[in-house]
Amino acid sequence: MEIRRSLPQDMRELLHCLKMRSKYAVLLVFVIGLVIIEKENNFISRVSDKLKQSPQALAEANGTEISPAPAENGSLASLQELDAAFSQLRSHLYNITLQLAGDGDPGPRRHILLMATTRTGSSFVGEFFNQQGSIFYLFEPLWHVEKTVTFLPGGASAVGSALVYRDVLKQLLLCDLYILENFILPAPEGHLTPFLFRRGSSHSLCEEPVCTPSTKKVFEKYYCKNRRCGPLNITLAAEACRRKQHVALKTVRIRQLEFLQPLVEDPRLDLRIIQLVRDPRAVLASRMVAFSGKYETWKKWASEGEAPLHEEEVQRLRGNCESIRVSAELGLRRPGWLRGRYMLVRYEDVARAPLQKAREMYRFAGLPLTPQVEEWIGKNTQAPHDGNGVYSTCKNSSEQFDKWRFSMPFKLAQVVQDACAPAMQLFGYKLAGSPAALANRSFSLLEEAQPAWVT
Ligand SMILES: *[C@@H]1O[C@H](CO)[C@@H](O)[C@H](O)[C@H]1NC(C)=O
Ligand SMILES: *[C@@H]1O[C@H](CO)[C@@H](O)[C@H](O)[C@H]1NC(C)=O
Ligand SMILES: *[C@@H]1O[C@H](CO)[C@@H](O)[C@H](O)[C@H]1NC(C)=O
Ligand SMILES: *[C@@H]1O[C@H](CO)[C@@H](O)[C@H](O)[C@H]1NC(C)=O
Ligand SMILES: *[C@@H]1O[C@H](CO)[C@@H](O)[C@H](O)[C@H]1NC(C)=O
Ligand SMILES: *[C@@H]1O[C@H](CO)[C@@H](O)[C@H](O)[C@H]1NC(C)=O
Repeated sequence: MEIRRSLPQDMRELLHCLKMRSKYAVLLVFVIGLVIIEKENNFISRVSDKLKQSPQALAEANGTEISPAPAENGSLASLQELDAAFSQLRSHLYNITLQLAGDGDPGPRRHILLMATTRTGSSFVGEFFNQQGSIFYLFEPLWHVEKTVTFLPGGASAVGSALVYRDVLKQLLLCDLYILENFILPAPEGHLTPFLFRRGSSHSLCEEPVCTPSTKKVFEKYYCKNRRCGPLNITLAAEACRRKQHVALKTVRIRQLEFLQPLVEDPRLDLRIIQLVRDPRAVLASRMVAFSGKYETWKKWASEGEAPLHEEEVQRLRGNCESIRVSAELGLRRPGWLRGRYMLVRYEDVARAPLQKAREMYRFAGLPLTPQVEEWIGKNTQAPHDGNGVYSTCKNSSEQFDKWRFSMPFKLAQVVQDACAPAMQLFGYKLAGSPAALANRSFSLLEEAQPAWVT
């Protein structure tokens, strides 16, 4: 203080000036430093956010997974880490490009429902999905529901059963296979059952790890075709379902498309519905063979013409055709909730060009058709001889699909044509006006399929 006071006035001013400047300088350096750090931080955190997002973008497509929000933290990332991260990002992008090119990117989880009626070739078309390794396929699981839940005849029964079917279906699509335990008879114990209907028709239930070693001799009503497995462990099956990328299910027990709206709108599902139809004349011919007992009156009437055909039989036929037509009309009308989720397929078109139709179905489902499926189709549609058994899917399909024409009595065809005319018109099945027309090989009973059948 003494010294300072002793300095001349201008000297003191100079000192003061210097002090002020250095204060400013320090401030300036501090501000610049802040700006640089902030910029760096921003840059780093932006890049690191990008890096965090890129795997997330993949997972996002996976509707079932909710990714954690990226942390706002980049300040510790060193440039070295950044470099490593950059090359990882590049590798990621490269992988994504490869996958987009069609190399096994599983994509988002899809749920495919093959909706059909009996004897329409649904086992055959179902195989298109069963053969795909990344799809968990179930063959007619609602069979159990039908066997155990009985509804009184009358108006309410159709609604009642449709609601039960729908809700069970939803749980199955979500891989909650335990729901079936309520309907399997005898009831499973400890989630184990040897009685799951047609287990052998579902690859996913007959491969590791769902196929457990069979230990002791247990009576298995439904067993795997190519190997011996222990009773089905439903927990293992449900785990396999969750592990597989997609779920597909075939059923002949869902009649009304409108009942499926809650499933289509369920955010946990990405449902694609394929409705499979077939010429009702062919369906009747096939049912008379497969469900012989149920069609006694039809057979008697067709062969002898003595026993009269009950009006209620014809009404049932008409009812079946109408429910199929009503569903198809709803689908083809493209209501908002169904857009992009409904496809109508004629069995005859599948039989004539199986591979092409399989491709169309997979495209509709948003899945790549794998070589496994192509191979199966190749093997199973060109069999030189008639397949074995009525449920066989191994036939020369383009030869088989209209064989019924040549053995069906014309009057039987006529009854179907009368009862099912509106449906036949919608689906492009031509009416045969005479026995000669029915049996005329060069007269096709098929109109060309409409491209608008995929919505
Ligand atoms: C999708 O989710 C399942 C189960 O949460 C998971 O195992 C699978 O790896 C996910 N797929 C992708 C592409 O993230
Ligand atoms: C920032 O990230 C690093 C590495 O990812 C982590 O170790 C650190 O705890 C994070 N810091 C904050 C504040 O989140
Ligand atoms: C890209 O794919 C290769 C080969 O499949 C794999 O080794 C690599 O880890 C993948 N990179 C990323 C970032 O996933
Ligand atoms: C069925 O599988 C689950 C899951 O692996 C297992 O915990 C359970 O013990 C199995 N049940 C039986 C009876 O083996
Ligand atoms: C299957 O039937 C079609 C049509 O009749 C015929 O062209 C084809 O050669 C048959 N394939 C075999 C393997 O018999
Ligand atoms: C069979 O159908 C073709 C094409 O419709 C027709 O030209 C031909 O006359 C028919 N044959 C008989 C015997 O009806």
